[in-house]
Amino acid sequence: MPLRDMTSADLDEVMRIEQRVHRSPWTRGNFADALDSGYVCRVYEDAGEMLGYTVLMPAVDEAQLLNISIAAEHQRKGLGRKLLGEIKEIARGLHMQRLLLEVRPSNVAALGLYRDTDFREIGLRRGYYAAASGREDAIVMECLL
Ligand SMILES: CC(C)(COP(=O)(O)OP(=O)(O)OC[C@H]1O[C@@H](n2cnc3c(N)ncnc32)[C@H](O)[C@@H]1OP(=O)(O)O)[C@@H](O)C(=O)NCCC(=O)NCCS
Repeated sequence: MPLRDMTSADLDEVMRIEQRVHRSPWTRGNFADALDSGYVCRVYEDAGEMLGYTVLMPAVDEAQLLNISIAAEHQRKGLGRKLLGEIKEIARGLHMQRLLLEVRPSNVAALGLYRDTDFREIGLRRGYYAAASGREDAIVMECLL
């Protein structure tokens, strides 16, 4: 899997993908902050084309998956599953015991991916996300590494 470190030079292309695939996209500043904070920011590319990217925040012994995105034109080809597999390897390499994330109940694709890759639901944050009408809960999921 061709994964490499994300740099600030990637942010134009990252933002193009981010704005197309997320209902509440991160801002350029969110990515810049993640890079500045030393989070694990990786780009998944093939022959110079960005297929997706991820941002992982390792803490003491658990890592929070803050962003995983596959470009709209490359979704549903197994790439998200592969990228998540790589993320788990990176987290294991950093001696993390578990991977945590939050997901909207309406994000059928992401929920399908996580349920299919050994994540389980461990909680609910009520009204966590802004939604078209009001707020939407976040499902909290974990995967033991
Ligand atoms: C979630 C996401 C990363 C999945 O990536 P992907 O490359 O399209 O997913 P894959 O092709 O690897 O699919 C893996 C599994 O996920 C599930 N899945 C993926 N897309 C799905 C969809 N549209 N509907 C239902 N299940 C879906 C399926 O279980 C699938 O396995 P299958 O193809 O054998 O049925 C991608 O849809 C995405 O980038 N979405 C926008 C960003 C986002 O919501 N990120 C997560 C929250 S931060």
